[in-house]
Amino acid sequence: MSTPTHGSNKIPCTLIPGDGIGPEIVEAVIQVLDALGAPFEWDRQAGGMAGIAVGGDPLPYATLDSIRRNKLALKGPLTTPVGGGFRSVNVRMREEFQLYANLRPAHTLVPGGRYDNIDLILVRENLEGLYVAFEHYIPVGDDPHAVAISSGVNTRSGAERIVRYAFEHALQQGRKKVTLVHKANVLKALTGVFLEAGKHIAKEYEGRIECDDRIVDACAMQLVLNPWQFDVIVTTNLFGDILSDLIAGLVGGLGAAPGANIGEKAAIFEAVHGSAPDIAGKGIANPTALLLAAGLMMDHVGLTDQARALRKAIDGVLNTDKVRTGDLGGKASTSEYANALVHRIGSAG
Ligand code: NAI
Ligand code: MG
Repeated sequence: MSTPTHGSNKIPCTLIPGDGIGPEIVEAVIQVLDALGAPFEWDRQAGGMAGIAVGGDPLPYATLDSIRRNKLALKGPLTTPVGGGFRSVNVRMREEFQLYANLRPAHTLVPGGRYDNIDLILVRENLEGLYVAFEHYIPVGDDPHAVAISSGVNTRSGAERIVRYAFEHALQQGRKKVTLVHKANVLKALTGVFLEAGKHIAKEYEGRIECDDRIVDACAMQLVLNPWQFDVIVTTNLFGDILSDLIAGLVGGLGAAPGANIGEKAAIFEAVHGSAPDIAGKGIANPTALLLAAGLMMDHVGLTDQARALRKAIDGVLNTDKVRTGDLGGKASTSEYANALVHRIGSAG
């Protein structure tokens, strides 16, 4: 995907500070990216409760328009308004920008947890499958919910597109293997077409990237017993939703988990966690997940050296300097942690 650049050679990027801890962690991320010399030109836009406050919509038109223009966004967490009949911002963005790929890497940051040396990437199809939610009830007698019916939709083109994305990402990241995860033994059509399309695409990468496949339930067990056998996993929407949380659990939860939503019309990068209202405004939130999301964004636009430098600085600060925020057992504030990263980046340069 080409990214528009201005005369200044800066990369324009929509920046949504978001709600709760969003503005605090976004500020830390900007400080660290500045220290790296990452050439982004930030286009700040409102979203979530902040969007409702400004224009009565959690996803204001100006924000959508900015993403449409820049094709790139870094998004803080948004509080989901309770009541008010607002549609999910994430679903609206997925549809609007055809964000077909959800990328969720899981990488051990702090050794000594239940699993060490985890380094997995999960690629989830984001637009099709059972999550199209073509659902209805059939009433029987006086029970309006006597029968519930749901249809899933997987297309060959959608399956080929997501599998191709997974292989291209594997190549770009120097990975060795892609595992296709399905349930083609039972859902022979719905997930059979995914497996069939996946095996077809895999042929194009023969000799460069290995390919195998797993049935989703067996895959879940194997991820718990021996996660190191996997490298890149690609799967359909529902299975991807479940397995991406599973692999976040392998590296100690959502606290440091980044996510990317990639589409033809835009790519949106965010932390997996929410707006953490319980600690908002206290200056103690961990910005690592959003930093890692910014790292994925730099990889995406070809700033791979800076992305690598960012990950190296995070590792150094967490494991050598042992500067950690409270959620990782440390005492550092958000800004102390950000300053430690800036210091490391400065001394590495
Ligand atoms: P949450 O992820 O905001 O918080 C869960 C727990 O993790 C809390 O104890 C929180 O303090 C802690 N936590 C989360 N991020 C942290 C960080 N960076 N550093 C330190 N601790 C952190 O989930 P919750 O409470 O269920 O949701 C809060 C709001 O966020 C809701 O309105 C929810 O809808 C929204 N949300 C938005 C998401 C998004 O915009 N992508 C994703 C998930 C939730
Ligand atoms: Mg989920």
